[in-house]
Amino acid sequence: MPMRCLVLHGPNLNLLGRREPQIYGSLTLAAVDRLVQEHGRRRGVRVECRQSNVEGQLIDWLQGAEREGFGGVVLNPGAFTHYSIALRDAVAGIGVPVVEVHLSNIHAREPWRHQSVIAAVARGQVLGFGPVSYLLGLEALIAVEGEARESREARQPRAPRARRPAPARAGRPSRR
Ligand code: DQA
Repeated sequence: MPMRCLVLHGPNLNLLGRREPQIYGSLTLAAVDRLVQEHGRRRGVRVECRQSNVEGQLIDWLQGAEREGFGGVVLNPGAFTHYSIALRDAVAGIGVPVVEVHLSNIHAREPWRHQSVIAAVARGQVLGFGPVSYLLGLEALIAVEGEARESREARQPRAPRARRPAPARAGRPSRR
């Protein structure tokens, strides 16, 4: 079964393309979603993208991710990054890995954007690469899933292989 990934965009990301294009670029959210989904198809991953301006909705989606069968979440929490303890607690409380992504390099911007309350509980962070941040976030989840699969397989002893009968030997019977 192909891996399924959930991409969550937080507040104001629905305005992509029109919103401060000098910072966030000119692609719309729909175009970013198409890029991530195409990348997912190339990598054999099914990607579902959702956006909300509502903190509680993002929390509900995070809490439901495992139940819905997602193997990981790529999350751009938008401005919630900098202060939402509720979103931080949701990321910390779920079993699926979450990769935090940002279009812009938050460390090169206003000082109050330098802090992410999500970073410490996310599996990792990718930022500053525009829409490519999402593709790299997806790659990170694929790598994390691969590692998890390998360690599951290493813990499960393999069933012993059935022994094949030795092939019949051609040629002269040995004289003993
Ligand atoms: C953002 C960075 C946040 O500081 C900002 O509030 C956003 C977008 C980014 O993707 O660069 O809404 O998360």
